[in-house]
Amino acid sequence: MINELKEKLEKINNLADFNQLKVIYLGKKGLINQQMANMKNLSSEEKKEFGAKVNEQKKACEALFSAKEKEIHKDMVDKLVKDETIDVTMPGYKFNNGTIHPLNQTIIDLENLFIGLGYSIAEGPEIETDEYCFEKLNLPKGHPARDMQDTFYINPELLLRSQTSPVQVRTMLAKEGKPIQIICPGKTYRRDADDATHSHQFMQCEGLVLGKKITLADLKGALLVMARKILGPDMKIRLRPSYFPFTEPSVEVDVSCHKCGGKGCSMCKNTGWIEVLGAGMVNHHVLEMCGYDPNEIQGFAFGIGIERITMLKYGIEDIRNFYSNDLRFLKQFKEAK
Ligand code: DAH
Repeated sequence: MINELKEKLEKINNLADFNQLKVIYLGKKGLINQQMANMKNLSSEEKKEFGAKVNEQKKACEALFSAKEKEIHKDMVDKLVKDETIDVTMPGYKFNNGTIHPLNQTIIDLENLFIGLGYSIAEGPEIETDEYCFEKLNLPKGHPARDMQDTFYINPELLLRSQTSPVQVRTMLAKEGKPIQIICPGKTYRRDADDATHSHQFMQCEGLVLGKKITLADLKGALLVMARKILGPDMKIRLRPSYFPFTEPSVEVDVSCHKCGGKGCSMCKNTGWIEVLGAGMVNHHVLEMCGYDPNEIQGFAFGIGIERITMLKYGIEDIRNFYSNDLRFLKQFKEAK
């Protein structure tokens, strides 16, 4: 019996088979106990002898099982340790890194530039009041220039801001007559039908500088630095007279066409110039409505379309590319700087 058990145990290499075999030998109804049951027919002399023999067998079985159990456990631990070793020479997983969205890159570039020039970044809410978005910017209710911006109204007093200019108002009211030097990038909304150059949601970056003796020449200088930093060091700019209710005088600003270098092409409609932003000297009415004395402090403001200059910078022809989340488009801007 013991030799037979030895042979069987030798063939076993896992815990399940081991337990099964253990039940067959040492279980309640196992071989050892069955022999004990046979004892009842024997005389007391024979019982003694037989009992001692069976006990011996039992101990031998138990010893074999316990030795085998230790062996199985050791094998299991050895296997675990072997399986868990880390091969440091294996190549790592390749995680796909995202890229900075070209619009965000333009905002980062603008922020870096203007922070370097001593400006700070201001923010305002996208749900704005009619008062801040229009009235305090010299656009009272019924003013014809309101038609320039077809606006999403939530109710007669609340709207989705159609421009970042209300941040000017908020900053002036908060600064109470003190000098200001801010830019404000942010989302804006207009009831435009989406096409290659229009989007119902887009972005602008507002600029506002107020102080003593700030002139149109300061505005021109700031805009030239901006054009060269964002679009290229050879950029020229041109100011044309225009109209905005919140500035007087107002200008529209063109940059030299980077595609033809100013010679004239389809991109600049043969003019050599491309319009990029609106600007001007802050209207005295606006200054007064926002708590500033125009005789003491004056300054300039500008508003630039983030999509527009990003399209110019990279030669993107359809504004919808920015919002369609097409990876083939976005991956091209890996090296965008
Ligand atoms: N808010 C104007 C627009 O959306 C752009 C603009 C023009 C902003 C002149 C200004 C400014 O701050 O001075 O069309």
